[in-house]
Amino acid sequence: MNRFKIRTEVRFNQNALDTLKEFKGKSAVIITDKFMVSSGMIKKITDKMEGYKSIAVFDEVTPDPTTSLIAKGLKFITENRGEIVIALGGGSPIDAAKAIVFMAEKSGMGDLKLIAIPTTSGTGSEVTKFAVITDDTDNLKYPLVDEGMLPDLAILDPALVETAPPSITADTGMDVITHAFEALVSVNANDASDALAEKALLLAFKYLPYAFKDGSDIVAREKMHSASCLAGMAFNEVGLGINHGIAHALGAKFHIPHGRANAILLPHVIRFNAHLRACFGAVPCEAAQRYADISRKLSLPHDNVRIAVESLIDEVRYMLRRMGIPATLWEAGISPADFEREKENIISAALEDLCTASNPREVDHDAVELLLNKIAPVSEN
Ligand SMILES: [Fe+2]
Repeated sequence: MNRFKIRTEVRFNQNALDTLKEFKGKSAVIITDKFMVSSGMIKKITDKMEGYKSIAVFDEVTPDPTTSLIAKGLKFITENRGEIVIALGGGSPIDAAKAIVFMAEKSGMGDLKLIAIPTTSGTGSEVTKFAVITDDTDNLKYPLVDEGMLPDLAILDPALVETAPPSITADTGMDVITHAFEALVSVNANDASDALAEKALLLAFKYLPYAFKDGSDIVAREKMHSASCLAGMAFNEVGLGINHGIAHALGAKFHIPHGRANAILLPHVIRFNAHLRACFGAVPCEAAQRYADISRKLSLPHDNVRIAVESLIDEVRYMLRRMGIPATLWEAGISPADFEREKENIISAALEDLCTASNPREVDHDAVELLLNKIAPVSEN
């Protein structure tokens, strides 16, 4: 038996922010970061909130939100008593708001309506039950997972992403593509997640280059926002894989932007999971067939599964080059000495990461090392 659940209502495309007008008379707390306030982005939200009983802004979210930040946010919403909580920003403010609201409800504040408004097209956090929080005491990142953290409503308005610079668009867009690929080949994949992941991939391969080239291309922005949300719904139910397992470890050690770490790994992970060498003269594995199917739907060369998978890898590499995404850790600014020092820790963390468990091909120490050696080639050392 398979199961698939979508709890979050999604309002999307142009003018989606008008949804906020439906809550006139309510008291609201906005959880965001200082940039959203200083850049004036928050005004696009508050302009739609005329007639609210009160609006309080907690703007102290920083990248990689910590347990002490969650405690501070909890105190803020306890004191300000918002009936609705609006999470505004990229992955960090949305993750922080999910954790804060979850804790507030657990501590007896009653049901709060959580509205997530993403300002990047990447994490899919607006429709997932995950929040990554860093523990202040040991500086380690912990994924919190609970259905209670799913936002009630997600508002995807392209007006909030059109000012994202090209490098952010590229990194976050590749995060979307990685989410969709990992959900597509996950050991838990099912017909419902397949539909979402496949549509997310087709949208992202088509529209990411346009969104990267011209941020004001509102249709491309709209489609990338949709792709991000669909991929989020897919992986929320069926998990991710080794790509994210390693990317989390690399991000924690070297602070490489999450989407960029995923992007650097992606061509190698597709090849690893497709395991083409093992299927010489035999039926290709399920993951290889799924990659090949996407390749065919993208109209890439697909005479047989091997050619289709190779074409897909080439296409990903081409996208990365066109968007200036590094191909190796060295190009991403990591020094070989630092990498060697942390290599074993990264391998251990990747193997323990929750995401790794749903990878389609079994992963052990040597497999992670092999993948790391691809992105940290010795010849360029
Ligand atoms: Fe991700």
